[in-house]
Amino acid sequence: MAHIITVLGSTNIDKVVSVPRFATSGETLHTPNHMVDAMGGKGLNQGVAVARSGVQTNMITKVGMEFDMAKNMNVEHLNTEYVLRSKTEETGQAYITVSAETGDNIIHIYGGANADMTTADVQASAAAIIESEFVIAQLETPVETVIEAFKIARENGVKTILNPAPMPEHGGLPAELLAVTDIIAPNEHETFLLTGIEVSDEASMLANAAYYFERGIQTVIITIGSHGAFYMHKSGDHGVVPAFKVNAVDTTAAGDTFIGATATRLHANLDNLAEAMRYGAAASSLTVSRAGAQPSIPTEDEVLAVLAAH
Ligand code: RIB
Ligand code: NA
Repeated sequence: MAHIITVLGSTNIDKVVSVPRFATSGETLHTPNHMVDAMGGKGLNQGVAVARSGVQTNMITKVGMEFDMAKNMNVEHLNTEYVLRSKTEETGQAYITVSAETGDNIIHIYGGANADMTTADVQASAAAIIESEFVIAQLETPVETVIEAFKIARENGVKTILNPAPMPEHGGLPAELLAVTDIIAPNEHETFLLTGIEVSDEASMLANAAYYFERGIQTVIITIGSHGAFYMHKSGDHGVVPAFKVNAVDTTAAGDTFIGATATRLHANLDNLAEAMRYGAAASSLTVSRAGAQPSIPTEDEVLAVLAAH
């Protein structure tokens, strides 16, 4: 298996506006900044994070007929051979509000072409998965497409990484999906929605991990914002990789960066998880400290410079 990573997931046009603070329901609030368009989507962000860290990246994603591949994907050195086009839907959209006060965001997404991805599309892209070391997916494409991709991966000895974002509002995930997931990487809110166990202290993180182990997953990563990320293997080995301290300007895509960048350093047998996560943490610290989502995802050289300085 070559050192190739396949990312199955969404592509969105991000419409980003920075506001002095979040308005409350029913309130109208002026912003001094006008809205800008940038490329996004958890899938594409994770793919860009992988590619900018120097690893060959196959994208399995679905966009509208109007999408400009050269301008938005080829420049990132992504392999676009498996990018699909929807005949009926335009490229997905995300409406992102970033608070200038805290760097936090509120995101509303419209699926568009992402929602139009089918299991047949994934089957047609099987070659991308089979030649990879890891396949990474999120939940901005239909859950059946992720299950299909992970089944193909399992049958071919390819490791699967699930970022369960966003979590479906009503209820958990199919047992069938967890059964073909090697690494699950939720944030603290997503894991709570899945397990019902709030993340507060170490005991609660161990209890969250136990939930996944019981369902067949071998490795758990829970990102805990500015605290960093918790990890645990089924063998019992666990710890916390602290976040690098930065001034938070815009946290959008920090999780995407962490996951994509970590995967580029991870050995196929997962024996260097904490070390790989440290690289991911350095990468996401750069994403957090700069404006924008995808535009703020760092290159390998930038990440290595952060690591060298610590
Ligand atoms: O994780 C950040 C991403 O979430 C944004 O780029 C937006 O498109 C949504 O998918
Ligand atoms: Na950013």
